[in-house]
Amino acid sequence: MSNNILITGGAGFIGSNFVHLLLSERPNWRLVCLDNLTYAGNLANLADCQGQKQFQFVMGDICDADLVDKLIGDNVDAVVNFAAESHVDRSILGCQEFIRTNIEGTQVLMDAARKHEVEKFVQVSTDEVYGSLGEEGAFTEQTPLAPNSPYSASKAAADMLVRAYYKTYGFAAITTRCSNNYGPYQFPEKLIPLFVTNLLADKKVPVYGDGLNVRDWIHVEDHCRAILAALEKGRAGEVYNIGSDNEKTNLEITHLLLKLLGKDESMLEYVEDRMGHDRRYAIDAAKAKNELEWQPQIDFAKGMAQTVQWYIDHQPWWQEIKTGEYLKYYKQQYGKTL
Ligand code: NAD
Ligand code: TYD
Repeated sequence: MSNNILITGGAGFIGSNFVHLLLSERPNWRLVCLDNLTYAGNLANLADCQGQKQFQFVMGDICDADLVDKLIGDNVDAVVNFAAESHVDRSILGCQEFIRTNIEGTQVLMDAARKHEVEKFVQVSTDEVYGSLGEEGAFTEQTPLAPNSPYSASKAAADMLVRAYYKTYGFAAITTRCSNNYGPYQFPEKLIPLFVTNLLADKKVPVYGDGLNVRDWIHVEDHCRAILAALEKGRAGEVYNIGSDNEKTNLEITHLLLKLLGKDESMLEYVEDRMGHDRRYAIDAAKAKNELEWQPQIDFAKGMAQTVQWYIDHQPWWQEIKTGEYLKYYKQQYGKTL
């Protein structure tokens, strides 16, 4: 496998963890990170990568066909597409950007990748495209897509487009569908970083509905290793589910965080449920384990304790996000405000 990789959305949570993984595990690869720095993109996530000779950051939109064509035409061998609008609650408030970036952006990337005959295209998708499970069972790659939120519908549409490009053009695309991630650099709007940072600031944590919705948690580093395995060993046209067998109710997560941070029940506040709230996700990752020779390595209890410690040790990182001050990194680099 050649080694010039375009990583889109690399200033976000999972993308920046992926960049860090590649810089340490594949030091000879050339990485180009394309990100248009939405509210979720943060140059501080890549602070230690800037200046490394094999890493280049390009501020730009995946929907910008000319820019994408130019970048991919410049010797790119593979594309890993993380760029997305990723938060369900925001998609419920309005989904125009979700349709634009998640669907149209994927099309623009694939057209350029096809034109320049890239060797592989990895579409980073989500288990949410499968919809909601009952009490039993887990999503396999054969589970029909049944998205319930505007976010998951936009991701499912992109997945269908990826499938169609493979079937129609023989385009060498691989789709990964992972469960909920936790770990360093997650934007504090998602459950775990929101609750940790609220508790550190002595604020209550808002549990939606009865708190019994189940998510299947995986450490972001295990997810990133699976994406790398898919890039290197995955078969074109295939879908790989990624998960780590850690089904937890939101209340279980909340109680664990209260315990790790030495807080009591009084910090927990039940609030109105999310509209269309999926009840349960669970992933069967047998195919990825068998075909990609990948295994999750991070124990859930240890991973959660380390993650909480990371947010304790990086208070300026999340405080700057909460105050909006993090936009200064953009100003420092580009001499103007967003
Ligand atoms: P994130 O919101 O933290 O980061 C998204 C990044 O994409 C940001 O840096 C943002 O600036 C960038 N971006 C958005 N629109 C763009 C555009 N038009 N052009 C260029 N860049 C753009 O998201 P994340 O949690 O890191 O998720 C990354 C991918 O993984 C997404 O595709 C998401 O659907 C998928 N995923 C996430 C999870 C999870 O638990 N977070 C689980 C499974 C799959
Ligand atoms: P989230 O982190 O938004 O991920 P997703 O919706 O993609 O699974 O939410 C995880 C779970 O936590 C989900 O069931 C909704 C719930 N939740 C809360 O109870 N309170 C909150 O403030 C947030 C953000 C999420």
